[in-house]
Amino acid sequence: MNGSTVSIDHVSKHFGSFHALDDVNFTIKQGEFFSLLGPSGCGKTTLLRIIAGFEFPDDGAVLLDDKDIVPFPANKRPCNTVFQSYALFPHLSVYENVAFPLRLQKKDKKEIDEKVREYLHLVQLDQHMFKKPNQLSGGQRQRVAIARALINEPKVLLLDEPLSALDAKLRASLLLDLDALHDKIGITFIYVTHDQSEALAVSDRIAVMNQGKVLQVGTPFEIYESPATQFVAQFIGETNLFEATVAECVPYKNENGLEEFMCTCSVPELGKQTPLPTDSEEMAAGDKYMMVTDYDHTEPGQKVAFTIRPEKIRITTDIPDVHGRKDINVFKGIVEEPVYTGFQSKFYVRLENGAVLKVYQQHRNFLDDGPSIAWKDTVYVSWSAEDGYIVEDIEK
Ligand SMILES: Nc1ncnc2c1ncn2[C@@H]1O[C@H](COP(=O)(O)OP(=O)(O)O)[C@@H](O)[C@H]1O
Ligand SMILES: [Mg+2]
Repeated sequence: MNGSTVSIDHVSKHFGSFHALDDVNFTIKQGEFFSLLGPSGCGKTTLLRIIAGFEFPDDGAVLLDDKDIVPFPANKRPCNTVFQSYALFPHLSVYENVAFPLRLQKKDKKEIDEKVREYLHLVQLDQHMFKKPNQLSGGQRQRVAIARALINEPKVLLLDEPLSALDAKLRASLLLDLDALHDKIGITFIYVTHDQSEALAVSDRIAVMNQGKVLQVGTPFEIYESPATQFVAQFIGETNLFEATVAECVPYKNENGLEEFMCTCSVPELGKQTPLPTDSEEMAAGDKYMMVTDYDHTEPGQKVAFTIRPEKIRITTDIPDVHGRKDINVFKGIVEEPVYTGFQSKFYVRLENGAVLKVYQQHRNFLDDGPSIAWKDTVYVSWSAEDGYIVEDIEK
């Protein structure tokens, strides 16, 4: 099967005076697993309903393979939707639920039977075809809904939070099944979720939305490593975020060979860096730190937001040996709250200037950084310039 390219072309939608979608504009590639990710109420379902044909945009167009589909009713679009609530017919068997779209099209019996069995096999429900929906688990019911949405071979499958009614373990396993299904059938998937870990795990690309706007479109790696705005940095994963003022920026090639900028900034909340035994006098002044950005119009004096992910910070009881590297930022602090979470420890470290940094450390015995760290210990936190990241502007 072939998927379609889906272009959302400057789409806006309001309900009364409320802007549910504000000039949304991006293109989903043929066969992509594409996620719309954002908090509840940001407009994800509204956008999905506009693509499906259940809702109409006030402005803009939706192009499927370059053809505007807005004038077509929902049942004339090659898009099917899977809802959170399954929407199965309770009185019909699994088999008849999946056969339903083909019966509507008056297909012949033999063709219907072959296809229903093929699609039930695809979602691993061969053993359950004569049961009623209420004899199935939540995960199985959702697989019926998926088979029913796929059976008339749409070019785009729309999934609106399809896993959110399931418990966490089942959610994770059905998500992997969906990913495998996508690989197998190759059509375009547009997946709506408010759960960033789901979106990061399976998407080819993600559009991060907030308040009716798309803030960033990118691969999971791009969105996590190079968030475009403060909101994206904070919504995806966890992070430390501070106001910073740019002192200097010079072009620089990162480890993947991409052009970025190495910036020196001051971050008043973080205070002064800890002087290292190897520092020259000039470096020991230490109130400027280095960080990178791909924002190409950062100027001296500009106010920006600076972010460093908790897992990228090293925590040690001794001053770290940085081997003379100038791109390592080092601060001294006191552990306020160690939190043991099984697979990692979280530390809240108060720096001398008062700021509190979140630091996550994986548990391992090999190359351990010294004795275990406890409440009220004096520690050093350090990170490399490459891991610090400047987010464009400060959002007011
Ligand atoms: N038919 C409608 N009438 C009025 N307001 C609506 C309607 N549909 C959605 N909204 C509002 O638009 C906003 C976005 O809704 P929705 O697209 O469902 O968000 P999400 O799916 O991201 O949670 C919400 O504030 C919601 O209340
Ligand atoms: Mg929704």
